[in-house]
Amino acid sequence: MKKRIGIMTTGGDCSGLNTLINRIARGAMLRGWQIVGIMDGTDGLCTTPPSVIEFDAQTLPIECARMAGSFLHNGRAGALNFETAAETGQLAHFNKKLQQSLSELKLNALILIGGNGSISLAWCNRDIYSDIQLICIPKTIDMDIPLTDRTIGFDTAVQQLTSFCDQLMLTARSHHRWFVVQTMGRDCGQLALNAGIAIGASAILIPEIKFDIDSLVKHIKSSPRDYGIILVSEGISLRGHSGRPADMISRKLTASGIVNRTAYPEHTQRVGDTVATDRILATRMADCALHAIENNETYVMTAVSNCECKTVSLSEFFSAGYISADPNIPELQTSDAYVSPDDPLLEIAVNLGIYIGEQK
Ligand code: F6P
Repeated sequence: MKKRIGIMTTGGDCSGLNTLINRIARGAMLRGWQIVGIMDGTDGLCTTPPSVIEFDAQTLPIECARMAGSFLHNGRAGALNFETAAETGQLAHFNKKLQQSLSELKLNALILIGGNGSISLAWCNRDIYSDIQLICIPKTIDMDIPLTDRTIGFDTAVQQLTSFCDQLMLTARSHHRWFVVQTMGRDCGQLALNAGIAIGASAILIPEIKFDIDSLVKHIKSSPRDYGIILVSEGISLRGHSGRPADMISRKLTASGIVNRTAYPEHTQRVGDTVATDRILATRMADCALHAIENNETYVMTAVSNCECKTVSLSEFFSAGYISADPNIPELQTSDAYVSPDDPLLEIAVNLGIYIGEQK
């Protein structure tokens, strides 16, 4: 049957979205299906008429598929905060408009490329999608999505951060000084941990593990080198301190006589040419999503587990992502997608002499 498929990218961008769009469009066209690109995520569905483009073979050329950002844009606000929106009545309006637009577009299926927020939002408001097949694809540099071992954009973000720190290491060495580099990741430490291992950081501070500032100072002072990098995930907190985490660590180090500077790679972590592993992941997830449509699946998310790419149900995704409070740091929340205490990278880091906090 000739199908009509919508694709949209929601939430924050990351590298790999264009590869995904290109592969979905190509696979769908080879099947004789029509492809509708929804512009600006759900923002595009809320305009009258909906903001869309019809794809043909020239729409997103292969040579552009390696580029960061989203050809379909991500919208201004990212995922709607549905709790606030529900209170203000905005959500009911938003849902109605979304449903109207989807039926106007006469879609058989929608491929929603999003992070935790957008996928949870879609699941919580699933009635909107009851007349079409809803297939989600996980993307985020934070890698905080449950039930999948990888998310689109993570590997490129690790590479971007690694390249940034590799350059800093050279000036650090020349000046016999330390750099405190603050990474993105929200309250998930995967990005900092993986990049920290890649660059051979001297310390990696992540939200999932409590750290002790005196132990950090002692560790740096006893280092065989007088330069290096301390990677600080943006989600860490230090009691009694406000402001940016890297600044607060930097001040503590300075007070202990450790010469240092701070550096913020910021949104450069979300861009950069998509690395090969992200392109392969995007190609696999696109293929999995198209098969899911052929198999009449709905309310599913593509996922990679033990090297196998498959679909998982959104209800399973939603319950696995249940966020529980961390007993050590009451204000911090973790889910099973975050760095677990058994993550083998933690032990490897310790064995390499990297300070990662006070484990156990
Ligand atoms: O969730 C992706 C992410 O890049 C986080 O790592 C970061 O905290 C946040 O988005 C930044 O959002 P914005 O682009 O709105 O500044």
